[in-house]
Parts: sequence; C-alpha cells; structure tokens
Amino acid sequence: MNRLAGKVALITGGASGFGHASAALFVREGASVVITDRNPAGAEVAAEIGCRFVLQDVTDEASWPALIAAIAAAEGRLDVLVNNAGIGLFRRIEDMTLAEWRKVQAVNSDAVFLGCKYALPLLRRSGGGSIVNIASVAGKSGAPLMGAYCASKGAVTLLTKALALECAAEKNNIRVNSVHPGYVETALVQGHIMAGTDPDKARRYLEKLHPMGRMGRVDEVANGILFLASDESSFMTGAELVLDGGLTAQ
Ligand SMILES: NC(=O)c1ccc[n+]([C@@H]2O[C@H](COP(=O)([O-])OP(=O)(O)OC[C@H]3O[C@@H](n4cnc5c(N)ncnc54)[C@H](O)[C@@H]3O)[C@@H](O)[C@H]2O)c1
Repeated sequence: MNRLAGKVALITGGASGFGHASAALFVREGASVVITDRNPAGAEVAAEIGCRFVLQDVTDEASWPALIAAIAAAEGRLDVLVNNAGIGLFRRIEDMTLAEWRKVQAVNSDAVFLGCKYALPLLRRSGGGSIVNIASVAGKSGAPLMGAYCASKGAVTLLTKALALECAAEKNNIRVNSVHPGYVETALVQGHIMAGTDPDKARRYLEKLHPMGRMGRVDEVANGILFLASDESSFMTGAELVLDGGLTAQ
C-alpha cells in the first residue's frame, strides 16, 4: 500500500480495461488519479474507484493543454502520465483504407505524442515523474491482419526511447518507459473474438499464442504499470516492460 502516496496520476482510456484496472490500483496505492476517456461511462468508473473523470478524445490536440491546465489548477502537480487509450483493427493491409490506417495511428500513436508533449512542462515543474506508454507485443513483432496496429505500437516503442533520452539529457528526473502486454480479454480483444464465426475457437487460438497457455489478466498488466509509475523503477527509463506469458521469448 501507499506505493504512490502523494503522487498525482493521469491515465487516458480509464473507462475500461487496463486504464480502469490501473486507476483503481493507483487509488489503492495512495495516488490522486484523473482518468480521461471519450466514453462518458468513465464518470461512473471514476465515482466507483474514487478518482476524477474528464471527458476527452485523446486525438483532439486542443483537449490536451486544457486538461493539463485543469490538473495544474485542481491537483497542483502531475507525477505520472499513463498514455493508455487505444483501439484495435484487424484488417489485411491490402483491404485497409487510408482513413482506417490513419484512425489507428491517430489514437494509438499521435495521441501518445500529444500526451507526452503537453504533460512534460507540468511534470518538470513537479520535480520530475514517470510517463508510462502502453504499447503491445505488437510493437515488438509483426502479426498478420494487424499492420496498422503493429505500426502504431512500434511508433510508441521508439517514441518512448527517444523521449527517455531527451529527458535523461536534460536531467529533469522524468522517466519514460513502455509496457508490452500480450493478449488480455478486455473490450478491445473481446470485440475481435466476438466478431468471428467461432468465438471459442478464436479465444483458444489467442490463449495458445502464449507459451504459458493462457491470456493475461488486467491486474497483471496494472501491476506492471504501477511498478513503472512508482519510485521502485527509479533507475529504469527508455525500457520495455514485457508482460506476455513468454509470447515474444520464442
Ligand atoms: N487487451 C489487450 O490484449 C492489449 C494488449 C496489448 C496492448 N493493449 C493496449 O492497451 C491499451 C488499453 O486497451 P484495453 O485492452 O484496456 O482496451 P479497452 O477497449 O478495454 O480500453 C481502451 C479505452 O480507451 C478508450 N479510447 C479509445 N479511443 C479513445 C480516444 N480517441 N480518446 C479517448 N479514449 C479513447 C476507450 O473508450 C476505452 O475505454 C490500448 O492502448 C491497447 O492497444 C491491449
């Protein structure tokens, strides 16, 4: 308990999945948490776990300076940013429209850039902090039907390292790391499982991808995000935290 005592954390995509689970865990560990989401259901989630909700489409650039200014006014500081909001797309490159490609990059990659860019001044003013970017195993290796998603997560993986080095050079005490989960049955993955003709088969296929023989759980990912957010990872920056049941060890 209290691994985040006194810290203020901002988590995007907090209405569901990893964002919801890590917000609840952060609150239990003593942080003041602000979650944002484009889904208004985030308000109920925030009320349930005891944090603040802001309706935000992370791809809207103007929303970012307004959000950070509101946190500076209300919470007075920012110690942790978790760029978590994301979407999936399962489509062959050949069948994909440019609009579909761009939508995935806008949410999964451009918005991570925006979050980092606009949060940095407040993190710096707060004496440093931790940025945790949620990438994926798909940011480390390719997968069929996942070209747009892989490209977006690959971008997050290397943006993370580049920013980590900029911050280290500035000696500003801001660490930047990425998290690479394997498959976890959140709404994002459930959408894919249910879209096919045989959901049980799709689920078994995803389970078997992991050498441990199962998908991950949201709490297992939230624990990794907590470690990177906390001072326990104080010598870690520009690194990839892989939580994938051995998937990318093969
Ligand atoms: N579930 C997995 O297996 C898995 C694996 C690796 C990485 N990830 C990544 O983890 C992150 C969280 O995904 P999840 O699995 O918890 O999915 P999820 O669908 O449960 O949650 C994603 C949240 O992001 C929000 N969101 C989407 N677009 C948004 C936008 N433009 N503005 C604001 N909010 C937006 C959604 O409303 C939702 O609440 C994503 O970046 C995803 O790519 C998921």
